[in-house]
Amino acid sequence: MSQQVDVIAGTGLDLKARKSHWPARLDFVQSASGLLLGLFMWGHMAFVSTILISNDAMYWVTKMFEGQFILGKAYPGIVAAVVAVVSFLFVLHGLLAMRKFPANWNEYRSFASHRKMLRHEDTTLWWVQAWTGFALFFLASVHLYQMLMHPGDIGPYESAERVWSGRWWPLYLVLLFAVELHGGVGLYRLAVKWGWFEGKDPNRTRIMLKRLKWAITIFFLTLGLLTLAAYMKLGHERRDRVGERYVPSWAAPGGQR
Ligand code: HEM
Repeated sequence: MSQQVDVIAGTGLDLKARKSHWPARLDFVQSASGLLLGLFMWGHMAFVSTILISNDAMYWVTKMFEGQFILGKAYPGIVAAVVAVVSFLFVLHGLLAMRKFPANWNEYRSFASHRKMLRHEDTTLWWVQAWTGFALFFLASVHLYQMLMHPGDIGPYESAERVWSGRWWPLYLVLLFAVELHGGVGLYRLAVKWGWFEGKDPNRTRIMLKRLKWAITIFFLTLGLLTLAAYMKLGHERRDRVGERYVPSWAAPGGQR
């Protein structure tokens, strides 16, 4: 008799069976890897945008990451190691995110009709995140591979030449929008999901978080566009001198460059 009560009729599901903790664990790892990648992107944009201060500033940041100021010599392999870690997080995060994608046409149709019916902004935001995440699979992978294999070719001239003469700017332009939209929505959803900053009035917090999300996205998009424009301009100016390595003003014979 008890056997009959514990098993849901016709499904074979045993109510007494211990529920697996794995879905929750995987969700946690997905959130944690997303958070780390989001924070990494803030740092990445800050470092890459030092080109807006000066060529020397960008050069200094590059050499700092290559360990020159501590080890006395530049080791691009350090940058490659960081790229390897970021790539691992990226693949892990993408793999876990795939669990949530619609797996076939029926699931896709069912989500699309729910989205239309609900007309809830957060559901639409999830949709934006799924599409931008899908785009990132392709766009970010090529960038990461380039950085992994040529970590020594980062610098004001080297980067500007890649962006302009190497024709990377169209990819960066699309990648920038994809990553900023994805990261902004992702961090917002993390805050809502795990109840960070919830306070006494969760609805009000959600409105504030949404405003903050847009402010951050617009800030990083503007910074990213200005940065990309600066690399394109420098690359365009140097289009006939491709291959020259940058020498900082403190090491150049003529002083300021
Ligand atoms: C450790 C890993 C990474 C390193 C070392 C790195 C390095 C760089 C560097 C040096 C540039 C300047 C252009 C160039 O040299 O080609 C750049 C640009 C860019 N990177 Fe990365 N990157 C990394 C990971 C990522 C990831 C994971 C994303 C996005 C998912 C990304 C998105 C971008 C974008 C959008 C630009 C264009 C710059 C802009 O529009 O402001 N990067 N990156």
